[in-house]
Amino acid sequence: MTSSPTSLVIIGAGGFGREALDTYLAAKSAGLIDVDLLGIVDDAITEQDAAKLDRVGVRYLGTREDLGAQARVRLAVAIGDPRVRSKVTAECLSLGYELHSLVHPTAVIGSLTTVGPGSIICAGVLVSTSVRLGRGVHLNPGATIGHDATLEDDVSINPRAVISGNVIVGREALVGAGAVVLQGLEVGAGATVGAGACVTRDVVAERIVKGVPAR
Ligand SMILES: CC(C)(COP(=O)(O)OP(=O)(O)OC[C@H]1O[C@@H](n2cnc3c(N)ncnc32)[C@H](O)[C@@H]1OP(=O)(O)O)[C@@H](O)C(=O)NCCC(=O)NCCS
Repeated sequence: MTSSPTSLVIIGAGGFGREALDTYLAAKSAGLIDVDLLGIVDDAITEQDAAKLDRVGVRYLGTREDLGAQARVRLAVAIGDPRVRSKVTAECLSLGYELHSLVHPTAVIGSLTTVGPGSIICAGVLVSTSVRLGRGVHLNPGATIGHDATLEDDVSINPRAVISGNVIVGREALVGAGAVVLQGLEVGAGATVGAGACVTRDVVAERIVKGVPAR
């Protein structure tokens, strides 16, 4: 497989993979991204997802093994599950790949905010000032991240969730759709906050919490 010096490959053809694709396409047509998409890699693509890629005219490139190790390709790992994403990312980095972030043109990113490599920020996301987004953070459509928050590597924030100011979300944690994490709290590494929850206390690492208030 050959590529131009600035090619991008998205890993994952599932739901979030195709949202990442839409994010790329919107950023590209707005002139906000300098890489060209080579196609999508997925180790276990479904027939339905392959047909959807076909309909939008994007190439399915095969599995990660088919891709091999190509120094001139950058990757956006668009696997929704934080743990799987973290593992796949580590494997890709060990092969020498670099990651590329994707930011939708309708997303708003505040001053002094840093976006780590491979992070994917979808349509309508609001990220306030002085936020730190680690490597491979996924912000789904309509999520809001408050001032001075820190989201560590491979965190997923699902649609319309609200992370308030000064919150810390530990690596590989997931915050479900429409959930709210109140200001100054910490969601531990690998924790899961259920959809619609309101988090009023720190969440211990690896714990699943849900409901209002979240328990
Ligand atoms: C909280 C969550 C992680 C729990 O997953 P789980 O451990 O597999 O839970 P189950 O589906 O087995 O449900 C267990 C119980 O919790 C309840 N429950 C599940 N999710 C809940 C939620 N978000 N809030 C309140 N209760 C919930 C179920 O109704 C069930 O109750 P019951 O025992 O009285 O029947 C999951 O349901 C969730 O909310 N994930 C986030 C999903 C999301 O954001 N989706 C959007 C994707 S874009």
